Amino acid sequence: MRVVVGLLLLLLGLCGSGAQGEAGGLGEVNEINQNTDPKDPAEESTEQITKQTTCDIWTELRALRDMVVELNVHVELLQRENSDLQTRLSSSESELLISKSRIDQLERENAVQATELTSLGTRLTTTESKTSDLEKENADLQTRLSSSESELLISKSRIDQLEIENAEKPKVAFYAGLTNAGQLGPYNTDITLKYSKVFTNIGNAYNPSTGFFTAPVKGVYNLQFTGYCYHGGNVAVHVYKNNQRIMNNWEISNDNVPGYLTNSLVLELTAGDEIHLVLPSGFSIHDSGNNHSSFSGSLLFTL
Ligand SMILES: *[C@@H]1O[C@H](CO)[C@@H](O)[C@H](O)[C@H]1NC(C)=O
Repeated sequence: MRVVVGLLLLLLGLCGSGAQGEAGGLGEVNEINQNTDPKDPAEESTEQITKQTTCDIWTELRALRDMVVELNVHVELLQRENSDLQTRLSSSESELLISKSRIDQLERENAVQATELTSLGTRLTTTESKTSDLEKENADLQTRLSSSESELLISKSRIDQLEIENAEKPKVAFYAGLTNAGQLGPYNTDITLKYSKVFTNIGNAYNPSTGFFTAPVKGVYNLQFTGYCYHGGNVAVHVYKNNQRIMNNWEISNDNVPGYLTNSLVLELTAGDEIHLVLPSGFSIHDSGNNHSSFSGSLLFTL
């Protein structure tokens, strides 16, 4: 702008001096013309030079005017560009503000994330150490588990063995009542008591048709018996082992009170040993649905 103004001022200055020169020149020429008539060749030449100069100045002026017009056009262009640039600048500035605030926000977020990252790192370390602890525990547990499993296998095989042994072990237990027929005896001879009401006979070691118990295996046996006599009767039960009497038992009742006898034995018997009970001559024994007189026994254990 300043350049343009300067140029314009220069141009005005030039125009002023040109006009003055022109006027002065012309005045001079008129003066000369008035004073000298006819004109000498020197004066004519000066006049020509003056005309020529005037012509040049006008040409220059036109050129300058054209320049001014051009410059004006240029100035307008520059102003437009300037305004565009200002628009872009202010737009950029507001974008810059937005960007700055976004940067601030991102920085804050970044700081928060950094804090979170640190916290996560700490937690990760803790978790890793816990994980390694757990892995160790797991390994220990697996060792114990496999040890337990192998012990379990051994135990199972032992159980199987014991079950087989148990299944093979003889089971002997019997219990029988004498009769439902009431009183037996007294007789003139000893008779073998045949306990006919068999309630239990595991192993079938007791034979109700003979009244004999036969030990199936060598072992320790527990045997019991009970004898009952009605009011006024006398009851006796003798124990025989392999047809040898090993025990006598008797009980005398009176008219008001019935008689009971009972006894038990724990005997070491070998396989095939026989036990039976005998009602001796002159004695009686009574039984009914109440099973007052009974014989029972069982194998405690083998030997
Ligand atoms: C006694 O013998 C009768 C059969 O005479 C029977 O019904 C009852 O169950 C027996 N009682 C016992 C305890 O065995």
